[in-house]
Amino acid sequence: MPQTRPYDFYARQYERFNAPLAAEIRAEIYGEDIGQQGWRSMREQDEIIVLVTNAPGFHMADIACGSAGPSLSIAANTDIHLTGIDMENHAIAEAERRAEQRGCADRTDFIVADCSKTLPLEDARFDLITCIDAILHLGDRTARLNDWARTLKPGGTLFLTDAAILTGAVSKAELDIRASQGGFTFAAPGVNEIAIANAGLQLLDTRDTTEEAANLARRTHAARAARADQLVPDEGEAWFNARQQFLETTADLAASHRLSRFRYIARKHG
Ligand SMILES: C[S@@+](CC[C@H](N)C(=O)[O-])C[C@H]1O[C@@H](n2cnc3c(N)ncnc32)[C@H](O)[C@@H]1O
Repeated sequence: MPQTRPYDFYARQYERFNAPLAAEIRAEIYGEDIGQQGWRSMREQDEIIVLVTNAPGFHMADIACGSAGPSLSIAANTDIHLTGIDMENHAIAEAERRAEQRGCADRTDFIVADCSKTLPLEDARFDLITCIDAILHLGDRTARLNDWARTLKPGGTLFLTDAAILTGAVSKAELDIRASQGGFTFAAPGVNEIAIANAGLQLLDTRDTTEEAANLARRTHAARAARADQLVPDEGEAWFNARQQFLETTADLAASHRLSRFRYIARKHG
């Protein structure tokens, strides 16, 4: 990806997020467009929904939420309160627009903040924290999990995914392509489990979602390739090609289980 600063990728991605073509591509990749991106399958969305109690006092946080489409679709269909945080202005503006559109703006708040630092949120506030495919951008996993555990209520739940678990031999060239979207920290198997325990959380369930990620990367590559004539004039040829190379490498690394994605559900002691 051509880069002038670390997060140019996300800034440009969110500028285009609301375009009809982007929505059409999401519908083709995921089967339904709820404003999702990356490696979040509909199965995973259903797993999150199961953790939500539909009550006005229930408070969910989505860390590095992007434009928060999937979390907003939960908030819009329940009475819960949602807090979303991301460092990208365009993503948060799009999240606020979607909240208005879905009629749940009075039960949502969105914050522009750097989630690689201590969150600007009080202790024991949330019943559920989700962080989907972003912890790899946030540096020290142990420090992040300690801080997030602080903001969970006793008995609260963390739903975390990590797509940067190094489970095989990966070349420097492949790593450079996979990590081309900004700051990126790979982790050895077991690192998240230790960080979760050190944060005082009990790991309830782990699932290897690498195959799902490989499929979504392949589907995204194919959906974009089929629309190259519409995407290239907007994205530019260099960007389009770099994005396709990123998706191809991501799919290869996942399909061969050399770079894995895991989903963790953990609970703060009540
Ligand atoms: C792969 S996207 C996932 C977005 C969202 N969680 C989802 O599932 O759609 C990664 C997100 O992390 C955000 N991000 C990266 N570094 C960040 C940081 N230091 N602080 C806050 N957000 C960050 C990006 O802006 C982007 O929205």
